[in-house]
Amino acid sequence: SAAGSGATPGYDPLIIAHRGASDLEPEHTFASYDRAVKDKADYIEIDLRETKDGELIAMHDEDVNRTTDGEGFVGELTLDYIESLDAGGGQKVPTLRDIVSHYKNKVKYYIETRSNADGKITMEDQLLQILTENKIDDDNVIIQSFDEASLLKIHERNPDVQLVRLLRKKEIQELTTERLNEISTFAFAIGTYAGSTDKDLVSMARDNGLDIHTYYYDDEKELAREMFQLKVDGTFTNNPKFARETMNPS
Ligand code: G3P
Ligand code: CA
Repeated sequence: SAAGSGATPGYDPLIIAHRGASDLEPEHTFASYDRAVKDKADYIEIDLRETKDGELIAMHDEDVNRTTDGEGFVGELTLDYIESLDAGGGQKVPTLRDIVSHYKNKVKYYIETRSNADGKITMEDQLLQILTENKIDDDNVIIQSFDEASLLKIHERNPDVQLVRLLRKKEIQELTTERLNEISTFAFAIGTYAGSTDKDLVSMARDNGLDIHTYYYDDEKELAREMFQLKVDGTFTNNPKFARETMNPS
C-alpha cells in the first residue's frame, strides 16, 4: 500500500450502516439513518417486522422491549401503539413506508425480511409494493434474509431485485460448492458473521460467483479490520465513519 497509508488502491467495499449508525444514535430511527447518510454509508440497513395489523416497521427484535419504552411482541401489537412509543431520545419507530417516502432514491436500502412470532415471513408482497409505490429504483435496493423461501418468493416476483442469502454458523460449517451454486441462482452475495468468516470462505464464495458481505457487533471492532484484510465486498457496521477510518488508516 501507499507510503503513510494502509489504504488499498482499488478496494472499495460497501459500507452498510447496521440498523443505521446505531453506535451513535438509537437503532432503527431517523436519527440513526440520518447519521449514516451524513457519515457516507453506502447503504442503510433496515430489519423488518410485521405488526398485528400487518404494517411493516423497522425493528430488529421480535419484541419492542429492548429498543423502546413499550412491551410486547411486534406481531401482537398495533401500529398505533408502536407509534406511541419512544425508541430512544424522543425518536419514534418508523414504518418502511415512512423511511422510503422520506429518503426516496437519495439513499440505498439494505432490507432484511424477518419472521413473525410464529417463525413465518409473510411480508414480501407488501415490501415490494411499498418500494414500487415510492418509485424506488431496483438499483437502490438489496434484500437479505436468513430465510431462503423468503428470498425465492421475492426473486419470483421481481428477478431484478438484488438478493443476499444470510448464512447461519451451521450452514457455513456445512457449506459445499453445490450449495453455493444453488444460492447463486437467485442471490449475488452471501452474508456471514465476521467471526465465522476466513480466507477460505471468501475464496469459496468468489469461486462460485458470489460476493461476500460480513457483519459484526459493536464490541467487535477488531473484526472490522480483519474483514478489510480479507477484502470482503461489503461490511455491516454500527459506525460507518469508524469503518471508513479503519479501512483507510491515516
Ligand atoms: O443482516 C446482517 C446482520 O444484521 C444479521 O444479524 O441479527 O443484526 O440482523 P442481525
Ligand atoms: Ca439485520
